[in-house]
Amino acid sequence: MKESTDHAKVIVARSPGRINLIGEHTDYNNGYVLPAAIDKAAYVAFKKRQDDKIILTSRDFKETHETILDKVERSEKGWPNYLLGVVDQLLKAGVALTGFEVELWGDVPAGAGLSSSAAVECAMLLALNEAYHLDMDRMKMAQTAQSAEHAFAGVKVGIMDPFASLFGKEGHVMRLDCRSLDFVYVPFHTEGYKLVLCDSGVHHSLASSEYNVRRQQCEAGVAMVAAHRPEVHSLRDATLPMLEAYVAPKDDLVFRRCKYVVEENARLIEACNNLEDGDLIGFGKRLYQTHEGLSHLYEVSCPELDFLVEEARKHPEAVLGSRMMGGGFGGCTLSLVKEGAVESWSAAMKVAYQKDLGKELKIYVANIGNGGNIQH
Ligand code: GLA
Repeated sequence: MKESTDHAKVIVARSPGRINLIGEHTDYNNGYVLPAAIDKAAYVAFKKRQDDKIILTSRDFKETHETILDKVERSEKGWPNYLLGVVDQLLKAGVALTGFEVELWGDVPAGAGLSSSAAVECAMLLALNEAYHLDMDRMKMAQTAQSAEHAFAGVKVGIMDPFASLFGKEGHVMRLDCRSLDFVYVPFHTEGYKLVLCDSGVHHSLASSEYNVRRQQCEAGVAMVAAHRPEVHSLRDATLPMLEAYVAPKDDLVFRRCKYVVEENARLIEACNNLEDGDLIGFGKRLYQTHEGLSHLYEVSCPELDFLVEEARKHPEAVLGSRMMGGGFGGCTLSLVKEGAVESWSAAMKVAYQKDLGKELKIYVANIGNGGNIQH
């Protein structure tokens, strides 16, 4: 009796995109991150079937993708992979699923570095968890989404994006220790200021391959340090003097990558102190410093992102800090902007972007929202 009502039931799950205040490319180095969920999300409407068919529809792409439970494979279409990737993880873990139908939609801009992919994966996991009574905790879901991304998107991402999508809380950022997975909610009181995203409109094809290269370079640096200091297991355990002693003489490029990560971890702690003290000016300065590191040491920026940050610097009366956000090679910058100046500053940025780069600039105000849930 239960089964037949179960089959007819449509479950709608929602999970949001994310921003990250500071702590970039630190998650897969066992460091800290400071993300928050935003008020834009992916939605999955899920219904079990009595057979083994899987029918996926994307409202936004106006496309359908069909397969069966025994053939959950990567698709050329792209968007189905974020749904199928988590199904694949559950099947590999021995979870018994039936066929199902899913409709997917959402308003997280794709390719803007706001983690629309993690949002889709987490919405799907929330729906599967509810439909099959899996009793997964949210951290397990975040780890499952991360593994799905490794296997089906081929990008060796860290835990930050699905974590933020699942754990977000209105009015708060989260300081996550990616080594222990302990986290705290930090109230984000920025009265009078707004977090503004400038979408460069650039989606670089290098993003995923270069991301994996950065990860390897960090691992190479850790190996060089660990050869002398076996207690060092990740860049979280490394210090600048260690990098100078054991990495710099061997490989300058690896040294610069690792230096950025070690500095960024320290910067995040200082930035959290700034927030606690209500020192938004200090916090803003660290955003600029992070951008410098990402652009010159870690080299994951691009001319458009650098341009947006340089333009932001020209308006110190309006902007406290600005930096590229997320994996890099395109996507958005995040800027802390005086509320009363958001409109005029945005207009000036749009004009400058059009004039210098001949492109339209999309600007969004990021509002911090709650993490994913089942919609009742
Ligand atoms: C992408 C990845 C995250 C993180 C950021 C950079 O968003 O998905 O895991 O590594 O890049 O901080």
